[in-house]
Amino acid sequence: MNIFAIIPAAGKGNRAGFSHNKIFEKLNGESVLCRTVRAFSRREDVSGIVLAVSADDEERAKRELTGVQGLLFCRGGDTRTESVKNALEMLSALPSPPDYVLIHDAARPFVSQNVIGNCIETVRQFGSAVCALPSTDTTVVSEAGFISEVPARERVFTLQTPQGFAFAQILSAYRRIAPDDAFTDDSGVYAKYVAPPRLFTGETRNKKLTFAEDFAMNETRTGIGIDTHRFGAEKDYVVLGGEKIPSECGLIAHSDGDVLCHAVMDALLSAAGLADIGHYFPDTDAQYKGADSLALLTRVCGLLKNEGFAVGNVSAAIVAEKPKLAPYIAKMKQNLANVLQIPESSVGISAGTNEGLGYIGRGEGITVIANALLRSV
Ligand code: CTP
Ligand code: MG
Repeated sequence: MNIFAIIPAAGKGNRAGFSHNKIFEKLNGESVLCRTVRAFSRREDVSGIVLAVSADDEERAKRELTGVQGLLFCRGGDTRTESVKNALEMLSALPSPPDYVLIHDAARPFVSQNVIGNCIETVRQFGSAVCALPSTDTTVVSEAGFISEVPARERVFTLQTPQGFAFAQILSAYRRIAPDDAFTDDSGVYAKYVAPPRLFTGETRNKKLTFAEDFAMNETRTGIGIDTHRFGAEKDYVVLGGEKIPSECGLIAHSDGDVLCHAVMDALLSAAGLADIGHYFPDTDAQYKGADSLALLTRVCGLLKNEGFAVGNVSAAIVAEKPKLAPYIAKMKQNLANVLQIPESSVGISAGTNEGLGYIGRGEGITVIANALLRSV
């Protein structure tokens, strides 16, 4: 059994409004196009993929997909229907055309292996397989702005892709398309010229990315930061998370020595793929002498905002033999939450000793490890 995937990617992505086709937009560092293609190329039961791309995007698509096995490119058309038709024609010219094709929008990068597997199973059994989500909202038909019909909810579905078809049948259906036909997907072509297509159940996450906000929602980043400061300053307090905590001895630092804030800042900067705090606030720069680290943290938030990120949550572990920190943790959380503009419940701070081991155990310094999650806004 020979199965091919057809991926129409030849649109312009106008509604998303990026300066490039939306299929090149990155989600967690990987383009929409690469994700979608990878979902099919990793499958052993899919022998090849035809990607329909526009002349403008062809070079970039080829570059991004270098090394993907069994990938053919065809020129897209002015409409999605034309793009799919071109791909079907390319397959019909192969020495051994496929038995089945799975047609899937490039703009649906979250298609799961489960959905693809169900599509294959269904198309083998029924000759067609259309991914469909049962409607969770009430849907109506309107006539000139008034409700004219309320279909029973169990009878209403939203269609997604992939849509699988026996190759010979979908090819002949596409070849019969009349000039005044207007189809928004392949099931419509099959329904008109072959038979009512069979449905199988889709997934909410298999969403088509259409508007800019559909993309923003999806990017999250994590980062880690670590900082250590040595005891030895002639002070009777340390500053942690903006709180002054009584201590036999202070921490040596160019700034206020707030090792907690420093680790958090590095975690945030690292999550955004930016340079570390040493780069932004060098300890050779006089303006940072005795600097209030909460103020520096505010500036880090500004840098994140410039990169299009907001803080999701932060979590930090303080390792210190002394002083005793438990009574101050609630206040530290409050301070950090204020500056990061997140709820206190999104700031986690734990404190523990190092059981007398190593430099921390000997009371020579304090180390903090922090973790941060960012989301794109
Ligand atoms: N598509 C295509 N050829 C076209 C138009 C669309 O191959 N002439 C593809 C798109 O690249 C996308 C899928 O069909 O993967 C679904 O189309 P849509 O979400 O409408 O994408 P665009 O047409 O690119 O977006 P827009 O309508 O906002 O311009
Ligand atoms: Mg479109």
